[in-house]
Amino acid sequence: MKKTIIITGGAGFIGSHVVRLFVKKYPDYNIVNLDALTYAGNLENLKDIQDAPNYTFVKADIVDAERMDEIFKEYKPDGVIHLAAESHVDRSISDPLAFVRTNVIGTVNLLNSAKALWKDNYDGKLFYHVSTDEVYGTLGETGLFEETTPYDPNSPYSASKASSDHFVRAYGETYGMPYVITNCSNNYGSFQFPEKLIPLFINNIVNNKNLPVYGDGKYTRDWLYVVDHARAIDLVFHEGKLTDTYNIGGFNEWQNIDLIKVLCKIMDKKLGREEGSSAELITYVKDRPGHDLRYAIDANKINKELGWAPSVTFEEGLEKTIDWYLANEEWLESVTSGNYAKYYEEMYEGR
Ligand code: NAD
Ligand code: TYD
Repeated sequence: MKKTIIITGGAGFIGSHVVRLFVKKYPDYNIVNLDALTYAGNLENLKDIQDAPNYTFVKADIVDAERMDEIFKEYKPDGVIHLAAESHVDRSISDPLAFVRTNVIGTVNLLNSAKALWKDNYDGKLFYHVSTDEVYGTLGETGLFEETTPYDPNSPYSASKASSDHFVRAYGETYGMPYVITNCSNNYGSFQFPEKLIPLFINNIVNNKNLPVYGDGKYTRDWLYVVDHARAIDLVFHEGKLTDTYNIGGFNEWQNIDLIKVLCKIMDKKLGREEGSSAELITYVKDRPGHDLRYAIDANKINKELGWAPSVTFEEGLEKTIDWYLANEEWLESVTSGNYAKYYEEMYEGR
């Protein structure tokens, strides 16, 4: 069936994987990538599909309500997959309002544009909101986040994502907007901006720079290979239950320091360095304020209802990821030129 889908944030890390999957898998769909190309968005991420006949790129800021209305009127999407966001917790601590603008106001703008276009006739329409497990706050040593876990966000990032989730749900309740929300754990893989733990540390190891471990390094995250997140989004978009939410996770918890040690070991091997040399770069630094101790997802609902499960093990995914960064040093160099040095200095100097 022919469909037009607007994917927001398609030039970013996860968005580029979703755009690639949809463009390749659904030649009958028109995929419109709507992205403002902030520091995190990069059209290089989509070079391999940029000339596909079913792909269009539109540069626009979701905070601009009028522009969103124009784009929706022009392309008349049947569906929206909304990934555009400010996504880095550390940046949200320095500049919370940027997160309110894009994540909250931007999401409401998109909901309004979809509502205006669809005029309350929602047959065959879907607003898919991509969210994070961080909305649930933090876990202690035990337990898992379930879809019914109450929201309890701790960072300006997670508070803004929680707020956007609430707006999506509220548009469902109030205006009948057909929506689905997924809350996913930490992703890793190719094209991730080197501000997040794994690509930052790969880049620092390559450049023999210190590896800044926050606090005691005993914080725990549940890591999922980005391609498996994109597969889950495809599945939920086509088969998810309307007005429902699904948690997505890797069943793959790691304390930061253990993950970092594994990463260092693989990097030593790949770079032909003496075993233990990357680990010598580990430097414990001042903790992140409000640092959530542990995230872990119960992904049984999406597994049982839709048959989704991760396709690669963490060892495979991490190896593929490292190989990709080592083979794409030009990409790393291009995204770390410009303002990156300033960001790094402000975030890490004197930490
Ligand atoms: P990212 O930071 O790599 O990419 C964000 C993209 O959104 C960029 O292309 C950027 O240019 C675009 N963007 C930002 N502000 C915009 C605006 N005002 N208008 C239009 N475009 C704008 O983010 P990501 O890691 O790919 O995350 C994508 C989504 O998935 C986010 O909504 C995030 O909350 C969610 N998520 C991320 C993770 C993760 O581990 N990275 C986990 C769960 C959920
Ligand atoms: P991050 O990749 O920023 O994801 P999130 O905070 O959204 O989970 O961080 C993952 C974990 O790694 C988190 O516990 C913070 C920690 N971390 C460091 O120890 N040092 C760093 O330089 C960064 C960026 C993160």
